[in-house]
Amino acid sequence: MVEALRGLGYTTETALADLIDNSISAGARTVEINFHWAGSESWITILDDGVGMNDEELDKAMRLGDKNPLHQRDPSDLGRFGLGLKTASFSQARRLSVASRRGLKTSCLRWDLDVLANDPEGGWHLLEGIHPGSETKVEALGGRDHGTPRTLGGP
Ligand SMILES: Nc1ncnc2c1ncn2[C@@H]1O[C@H](COP(=O)(O)OP(=O)(O)O)[C@@H](O)[C@H]1O
Ligand SMILES: [Mg+2]
Repeated sequence: MVEALRGLGYTTETALADLIDNSISAGARTVEINFHWAGSESWITILDDGVGMNDEELDKAMRLGDKNPLHQRDPSDLGRFGLGLKTASFSQARRLSVASRRGLKTSCLRWDLDVLANDPEGGWHLLEGIHPGSETKVEALGGRDHGTPRTLGGP
């Protein structure tokens, strides 16, 4: 299913727009985007200074379709289907790491499509923490007291 969601017709621009929409809905004033182009080792980081998420909110944010599209949403909320973060990211990358900081606590969860693809049991493994070796990509969050950086793809 996740592999099929990758083909929903996003371009890099519209995928990033979907993620920036989330930052705006979260009250971000600044969104920093970094690109590193290196073939299959490419990555993109997106850092915002919005309200961030606690553990429970992050867990929900990483699930597919956690919000009912029929429910009323805040007029300033640009999201709708509860899918954008995941579908936009998977369209561009096989790994999505979301770290978020509230107060002194930083939480990080990660989807890795290769881990899902390689599990013969077909388990939905939502992984904890940043991919080993990618720690520097979330360092920027350290100096803030709230916000959400996402890392797409790469090592
Ligand atoms: N940058 C962010 N800052 C804070 N919360 C976020 C951010 N991105 C996503 N979220 C949370 O994750 C949820 C799921 O995002 P998404 O999959 O794009 O669906 P939707 O935007 O339709 O709600 C959002 O509703 C929001 O609660
Ligand atoms: Mg959204």
